[in-house]
Amino acid sequence: MLDGKRILLIVSGGIAAYKTPELVRRLRERGATVRCVLTRAGSQFVTPLSLSAVSEDKVYDDLFSLTVESEMGHIQLSRDADLLLVAPATANILAKMAAGIADDLATTALLATDKRVMVAPAMNVRMWEHAATQANLATLEGRGIERIGPVEGDMACGEWGFGRMSDVPDIVAAVDSFFGRGRRLAGRRALVTSGPTHEAIDPVRYLANRSSGKQGHAIAAALARLGAETTLVTGPTHEPEPPSVTVVRVESARDMRRACDKALPADIAVCAAAVADWRVAEPAGAKIKKGKGSASPTLTLVENPDILATLAASGNRRPRLVVGFAAETDDVVANAIAKRVAKGCDWIVANDVSPAVGTFGGDANTVHLIAMANGEVEVEDWPRLSKQAVAERLADRIADTLGAVS
Ligand code: CTP
Repeated sequence: MLDGKRILLIVSGGIAAYKTPELVRRLRERGATVRCVLTRAGSQFVTPLSLSAVSEDKVYDDLFSLTVESEMGHIQLSRDADLLLVAPATANILAKMAAGIADDLATTALLATDKRVMVAPAMNVRMWEHAATQANLATLEGRGIERIGPVEGDMACGEWGFGRMSDVPDIVAAVDSFFGRGRRLAGRRALVTSGPTHEAIDPVRYLANRSSGKQGHAIAAALARLGAETTLVTGPTHEPEPPSVTVVRVESARDMRRACDKALPADIAVCAAAVADWRVAEPAGAKIKKGKGSASPTLTLVENPDILATLAASGNRRPRLVVGFAAETDDVVANAIAKRVAKGCDWIVANDVSPAVGTFGGDANTVHLIAMANGEVEVEDWPRLSKQAVAERLADRIADTLGAVS
């Protein structure tokens, strides 16, 4: 977490500026205070109003510097921060920084600061490759300025190549590392299950559920960002594969159990998959036909293996920390407390999956973390957070508990 850290976010004029409200939200969800400086060009891509709304502070732009200078000088603005983050950093602002030009509030704050600076460059691939940009970056890096990205990908201009601003979670991870919250799970192995399972009825039909895999995938990504060697065993989903994670795709609960067994030993297991509780006892080998006058088929179901309970009871192969999820629609916390005991896991993350809450398939989650502390059940109520923020908070908690292998 970034509790109490003060970040001055300088937004310069690139198309990637549209991602900055999300960046502000994510940094704030982690406990940081974010104050924004918007350049004139930046305000063409993101409005002061939206940055002000997400930062819950006024946005500092040139108009401000001319009229309210006495209230908050540009020197104070940069001194009051623990870190200055320039995102997106255009070729132009990097050039000004390298040359020491201070012709607006953003560049003046950057020249006046005695604090550390990080830049997340974003520009067209040709501008990125230009000798002038590369020389400017070398100068800035020589002065101790840290660079985040850019990454390769599609550009707003239709070209492909290096120059795209790093994704928001990667910028947040870089800020974490800056504050010493980086690769705290290095040397640890993690196993995460995610998504639904599909249980065959016949070769073309299956039983499934509404799980999107968003939460499980986000947890795998967050553990990997903290340095854990992470295997994600996932049922069928449309979620992109998280970077630096070994992804094993499975269909059914039984496949998932086998894949999890293969992924052991692990230090951490997080079971976020919505595993089908039952499967069809004898799936038909050929497509079941309607047939005139024939009775509707009856499906006989048998119980699937419980992967979480199996992992929690795997003797000397048991991961040190086994975390389950409890999808509940009523008495969320009470049911989850009972489920933690029944499954034998260490922690359980209880979430309300009533249709009205929109957890399944949605981007946000309201959860309660249930753990044992000194023999007592401890329930932490987390605020409503994005699934990514839930993942990061959980990964942080895991790192607090296990730490890196020294
Ligand atoms: N789980 C599992 N294997 C199963 C069923 C569930 O690993 N066959 C895991 C889930 O990944 C989750 C936890 O068990 O971490 C609880 O899942 P949930 O669906 O809430 O509970 P169930 O065990 O299915 O119980 P019920 O549906 O009766 O509430």
